[in-house]
Amino acid sequence: MKDWLKTAVFYEIYPQSFKDTNADGIGDFNGIIEKLDYIKSVGFNAIWLNPCYKSPFNDAGYDVTDYYTVAERYGTNEDLKRLFYEAHTRGMHIILDLVPGHTSLECEWFIQSQKATPNEYSGRYIWTDSVWTDVTGISGITGSYRGLSERDGSCAVNFFTCQPALNYGFAKVTEPWQSSMDSPEALQTRTAMIDVIKFWIGMGCDGFRVDMAGSLVKNDDEEQSATVRLWQEIFAEVKKHYPEAVFVSEWGEPDRALCAGFDMDFLLHFGSSHYMDLFRTDKPYFSYDGRGNLEEFFKSYLENLKKTMGNGYICIPSGNHDMERISRALDNEQIKLAFAFLMSMPGIPFVYYGDEIGMKYLKNIASVEGGYYRTGARTPMQWDTSSNCGFSAASPNKLYIAIDPDEGRPTVEEQMLDDTSVLNELKRIITVRHSCKELGSDSDFELISCGYPLLYRRGKKVLVAINPTQEEKTVECSAIASEIIYSYNGGAVLEDGKITVKPASVAYIRLEN
Ligand code: NOJ
Repeated sequence: MKDWLKTAVFYEIYPQSFKDTNADGIGDFNGIIEKLDYIKSVGFNAIWLNPCYKSPFNDAGYDVTDYYTVAERYGTNEDLKRLFYEAHTRGMHIILDLVPGHTSLECEWFIQSQKATPNEYSGRYIWTDSVWTDVTGISGITGSYRGLSERDGSCAVNFFTCQPALNYGFAKVTEPWQSSMDSPEALQTRTAMIDVIKFWIGMGCDGFRVDMAGSLVKNDDEEQSATVRLWQEIFAEVKKHYPEAVFVSEWGEPDRALCAGFDMDFLLHFGSSHYMDLFRTDKPYFSYDGRGNLEEFFKSYLENLKKTMGNGYICIPSGNHDMERISRALDNEQIKLAFAFLMSMPGIPFVYYGDEIGMKYLKNIASVEGGYYRTGARTPMQWDTSSNCGFSAASPNKLYIAIDPDEGRPTVEEQMLDDTSVLNELKRIITVRHSCKELGSDSDFELISCGYPLLYRRGKKVLVAINPTQEEKTVECSAIASEIIYSYNGGAVLEDGKITVKPASVAYIRLEN
């Protein structure tokens, strides 16, 4: 495992909304550079940047036109290189977002691929052999693009209609127009994507978050074994040249993703992880009324942990650009407890920009760049009380997405000055994680109870107790405390074979041998 990952705490930046330095209403690389010291001061030592390549932005940049050039709105390739450099001089790492499954309709590869005359790119995407033959009902394909090209065929798409699917082949070939995984055209697509990876790592990036990593090979089996093999082969090549590069998958199946060679995989709002039971169902575990249930979450988590131990990490995010924000169901006090949970779990925590101050999810706002409901979780970062909350000097009607109109909206500036803020609590919690090896990414995890309170042991020596409810909770617990490493809101008392956890509180307790 790469050494720096062992102590990594990631911050996800949606670049459009982070910090605008040229007053065009949209965030840029210089803005991120300006805020690196802030990011570091909270305790984050690694950053994941959502896609920043040239794109028509029909899906916020997850529709890439040119994998080798950044979008002008963010700056130049040189600016991005400088961002890598500035991060590295601060001991931080940056990973980019790789979108290997599809491109935009404007990508030169797709333009060439649509031509009736066969050319180098004819097999780069998944095409049927006639426009009258559609690509329905195939796993990994969400629809098709038909009747708009000179070429006689239907092209598979991966997500929105504007995202034609790149051709990595089919696990089971059942039609003449389908390529096998080892066909020349599928291998060419693979090589093209490996070249993209090498290019950016050569420019100084530390790795990638990989979009829809589990769905590249179509018609795959239930276990996604062909896609697992594809990634193993890609990593065999990439890691020959860049053994230090790290990869985190948007897969949601850590067992498969780590076997495929990823260093880390996310628990997500889809897949089998029950991630949503933590903070986002109508009865989230982290709520005052104590009606949540983490049994299914931990059943899946513990199975995954057992299978992946030593091979890489499971990442539990506070949220991301595809989900309603954590603040949708939790208030600031509950968010603090949620952070105390995230920062005391094994694997690698990810915090979505703005969650560190409890920024609100804005319901029912107009969709921007294919965001739809996701737009409400992508509003500009709230830095201070100056105009546009310090996000941009543009006029408010030019902003990428409007600022949260609520006058009581949180800002970084105010929270820095308030010792009781979410931001300051998170800082304290991350400091504790960084200073206590038992709480780190690699040490053991033993679940003691997943009801109320939540109890688990880390590295055999540290007991974590969390009680999100408004009532004191007492349960049997034979451990003996030696030191309270961290507590919030009263914490817990461990005595006479029992632990009592105060209402809405948390404690990390070092145990006697
Ligand atoms: C997952 C990304 O996180 C999401 O934002 C995007 O719309 C789809 N993949 C398609 O690339």
